[in-house]
Amino acid sequence: MSNETQRHADLLEQRYGTQTKPENIIWSAQVEAMLSHRSVRTFLEDDLPDGALATLVATAQSASTSSALNQWSVVAVTDKALKLKLAKTIAETVPTDRIPWIEEAPALLLWVADASRSAEITKAQGSEPVVLDYLDSFLMASIDTALAAQNASLAAESIGLGVVFLGVMRNAAKAVADIIGLPSHSFVAFGMAVGRPDPERISSIRPRPAQPMVLHHNQYAKGRYLDYVDEYEKASQAFRNAQGMSPKTWQGAIHGSMTSMDYMGGRQELRDMVTQQGFKLL
Ligand SMILES: Cc1cc2nc3c(=O)[nH]c(=O)nc-3n(C[C@H](O)[C@H](O)[C@H](O)COP(=O)(O)O)c2cc1C
Repeated sequence: MSNETQRHADLLEQRYGTQTKPENIIWSAQVEAMLSHRSVRTFLEDDLPDGALATLVATAQSASTSSALNQWSVVAVTDKALKLKLAKTIAETVPTDRIPWIEEAPALLLWVADASRSAEITKAQGSEPVVLDYLDSFLMASIDTALAAQNASLAAESIGLGVVFLGVMRNAAKAVADIIGLPSHSFVAFGMAVGRPDPERISSIRPRPAQPMVLHHNQYAKGRYLDYVDEYEKASQAFRNAQGMSPKTWQGAIHGSMTSMDYMGGRQELRDMVTQQGFKLL
């Protein structure tokens, strides 16, 4: 087996564990990099290298964007005191007293679903941006923001950085918006801690379910996922054990996420927050 073949087999082993693996992956350097993804929550204190931010933003801007409206922005928080303030604001919404990866990472990127420019440009032409009143506009800006951020995350990983997405920023959506001075028709969809991964505290690739759980051909195969749950539980358990994580089944974790208001941590207020920001969600 060549080094390359071995590397690819290792990646599939880590991504799927003992589950059935796809056998016909068309490998490229980019595919390999994407299959190597793991969230990073342990960072060195080093500042981002020169040009890193510009690179992340250029790749984010290269993502598709609905109707070329460019309805997202990113606020790069590198000021340590401001970042700590944001970290503390969020830590108050979760059961732990601190969120070390926000404190440690040299940069916290706040990805803003941002229709504020569209609203202003429309008003400057003497009209009301009535389309922004509809849920679809909110969704459109949010989707574009996620695509942009995902491109940036892959770029970050390709230049030796690591990231973790931070949906937890929405726990205190209003406070975060106030701290960074967001305009109307915008909100922080999620954050992203970025930095150089600490080689002493490296994270592992987290397995995903076998492909038939998520891939349907022509028609949605309702309930077929049930055939694959047990296998995924085994892969998930093996990962958790190897990471020294608390024993928890995947289905148990889903149940917790679907029933616990603690898990929501303040995000149950999101509708109020985004409507105060001008999105009517009609
Ligand atoms: C939109 C989004 C929000 C997330 N929010 C958080 C978060 O608030 N805190 C955190 O530690 N991880 C967060 N994550 C990371 C996920 O927990 C992680 O992607 C998942 O467990 C799979 O692990 P992996 O990225 O290492 O493959 C988020 C991921 C996404 C896509």
